[in-house]
Amino acid sequence: MEAGHRAITANEGHPMKPEALFWIDGETVVAAEARVSLHDRGLLYGEGAFDTMRAYGGRAFRLREHLSRFFAAGNTLGCRPDCAATDIEVAINSLLQDSGLSDAYIRTTMTRGAGGFGMEAMEDSPACVFIAVRPLRLPAETCYATGFRAMISDIRRNETSPLSRVKSLNYLDSLLARREARKAGVDEALMLNTRGHLAEAAASNVFLVQDNALVTPGIDSGVLAGITRSVVVELATAAGIRCEERSVDPEEFSTSTEAFLTNSLMEIVPLTEVNHLQVGGGSPGQTTLHLLRQYRDLASK
Ligand SMILES: Cc1ncc(COP(=O)(O)O)c(C=O)c1O
Repeated sequence: MEAGHRAITANEGHPMKPEALFWIDGETVVAAEARVSLHDRGLLYGEGAFDTMRAYGGRAFRLREHLSRFFAAGNTLGCRPDCAATDIEVAINSLLQDSGLSDAYIRTTMTRGAGGFGMEAMEDSPACVFIAVRPLRLPAETCYATGFRAMISDIRRNETSPLSRVKSLNYLDSLLARREARKAGVDEALMLNTRGHLAEAAASNVFLVQDNALVTPGIDSGVLAGITRSVVVELATAAGIRCEERSVDPEEFSTSTEAFLTNSLMEIVPLTEVNHLQVGGGSPGQTTLHLLRQYRDLASK
């Protein structure tokens, strides 16, 4: 280092809030203070699950549903947490308060723990559970006015695998599909299942609008039971809009008047192009925009 120069840390002189706050083993920490074992099975084999949710006005929306899905996924994958969903609920609320964030991204992660190398864990260690809260990073608001353009990926969801129904730490099919989409200059990748039916997008569920009714692939098509998906079905049902869960042929985009994607962070995003072909008139439809308004009203109540 040159004479007279010294490293300047972000906090020096100007205490800055850390970008993300974490909770691990009952403690609130910043990233640099957290430690995860090199024997952790989540790191070595993707053995574990996660969940993502969004806070509105300092409160996590549909928190209990997310935690229930998160613990069910951990259970499917053989994780043994030594905390309960209620402990995580308390921790999330206190992290939100400490972060001072009103609208926030929240991620819960559970790994099989420090079981070491080899197909079978050497030790039956407790799950490693941690939470992150950080500012939201969302698509530009203009995306809701123009809609997303998507391509159908060559990577398929395997509807016969339990992994298609949990948010596991093995998220590589989704990451690769999304990367492929971005390389092709579009916003998102849609994935078919092994039978060639529509499953979901890389990180969201998909809906089509046909004859003023909603159509979405059933869980047996190899999709995650999205919390937003279920809220959309609730909102649509309350508005007298019929909802059908069934196998969907990808060709049906050409006969649908609207389509949209759902996830907890992006809420409801119109889908206006698939494989260079416009969906509906190529702009967001009335049903989609109506559901988006209803969803935002409900989430920020
Ligand atoms: C593969 C996949 N499908 C669907 C969803 C939507 O789920 P939710 O509405 O619970 O956020 C997600 C969420 O990230 C996802 O990763």
